[in-house]
Amino acid sequence: MRIIEVKDYQQMSNRAAEFIIEKVVQNPSIKLGLATGGTPIGTYKSLIEDHKMNGTSYQKVTTFNLDEYMGLSGDNKNSYRYFMNNQLFNYIDMNKAKSNIPSGIAADFQEECDRYEDLIAKHGGVDLQILGIGSNGHIGFNEPGTSFDSKTHIVKLAPSTIQANARFFNRIEEVPTKAITMGIATIMKSKEILLLVSGEKKKEALFRLLNGEINESFPASVLKNHPCVTIIADKAAIADIKVHYSEKVPM
Ligand code: GLP
Repeated sequence: MRIIEVKDYQQMSNRAAEFIIEKVVQNPSIKLGLATGGTPIGTYKSLIEDHKMNGTSYQKVTTFNLDEYMGLSGDNKNSYRYFMNNQLFNYIDMNKAKSNIPSGIAADFQEECDRYEDLIAKHGGVDLQILGIGSNGHIGFNEPGTSFDSKTHIVKLAPSTIQANARFFNRIEEVPTKAITMGIATIMKSKEILLLVSGEKKKEALFRLLNGEINESFPASVLKNHPCVTIIADKAAIADIKVHYSEKVPM
């Protein structure tokens, strides 16, 4: 794993955006895997700024989001479809028909999972997957205990995840208890992975990822089996953890 340490959230966002832009310029038809949550918001802002200033184009890009809450339609403000439209897609020249997110209101959720998994495969897989990490080590919505062989599937969210995500909702009771997520095997099929980690709240998870065993009780640990992972972590998340940096952005 390549580890890049940066000063803070802003620098992480800028560095991550640079990383993504370089890949989009190299391959304008890139298949990007995208994440939601608080972590990538700054990165998406930087992508929008760059699009406005430098005209980086996303017209040919296809995107696949990691997950979606079950029960929320795309026009619900807390759905991940709404999040993506409003944090990124509406402000770049993205062809939204090429943006894919599991449906939160499918008639048959199992069918929706299978459709989504097939769709990714039909496109030849994800070239670059952006990931955040949950404080319990979840990636996408793959909670501790999820099989490393899992494909896109339905999950029951862990109480700690519901608690953590309640900040985006009016009341904790409004947080859906289930979601559709790419599985661990789906994520691991991506050709390249960029993991973003910011803030003290993620310190323990990052420590465990870097120093712990590869185990299904800590889903993110599977990333150590992937041949091409870059982690961009800020000081608050990585301080005191002994690692060999590939790059330390001057502070
Ligand atoms: C959420 C999402 C994940 C995200 C993680 C961390 O539940 N499903 O894709 O990476 O939890 O979220 P945040 O970036 O808000 O800390």
